[in-house]
Amino acid sequence: VEVTYEWRGAFENAELNELHAEAFEHRMLDDDWLGQVTGHSLGWVCARQAGLLVGFVNVAWDGGVHAFVLDTIVAKSVGRRGVGTALVAGAVDGAKAAGCEWLHVDFDDHLRPFYFDACGFTPTNAGLIALV
Ligand SMILES: CC(C)(COP(=O)(O)OP(=O)(O)OC[C@H]1O[C@@H](n2cnc3c(N)ncnc32)[C@H](O)[C@@H]1OP(=O)(O)O)[C@@H](O)C(=O)NCCC(=O)NCCS
Repeated sequence: VEVTYEWRGAFENAELNELHAEAFEHRMLDDDWLGQVTGHSLGWVCARQAGLLVGFVNVAWDGGVHAFVLDTIVAKSVGRRGVGTALVAGAVDGAKAAGCEWLHVDFDDHLRPFYFDACGFTPTNAGLIALV
């Protein structure tokens, strides 16, 4: 069945919490994703298959020309079929259409082939401080 992608697509917190818990292998949480992304993000992309939420990516924003990819997640049931790559392509399109000039991401070593080779990010220096 075809997977469809929608920039700023509608979703419910429960379905995204379920997908997030599956993708990052943590316990089910009760986060207010809708409040977070509608209040703070440039946008997000939802992937659906037969109505089911099978993928999501959040595009955070500085209010100017920088957007940031966070929480790229794909259901295991449709893993390694290009859904993650298509989600990031949707993030690129959405950020471009909004006038952004740069899209940033950071990730663990094992995802270098995903972000560099499949999604087309260029390696750069980045930094991170754990605040908790
Ligand atoms: C990372 C993730 C979003 C990838 O989604 P996906 O739909 O499976 O990715 P794609 O099918 O578009 O992958 C395209 C290519 O990227 C690379 N790739 C994807 N996932 C990979 C992984 N886990 N390890 C190494 N390479 C990977 C492969 O080269 C893949 O091509 P191939 O399947 O022909 O080998 C998904 O595995 C996921 O949800 N992981 C758990 C959550 C997570 O860590 N998210 C990233 C937060 S920064």
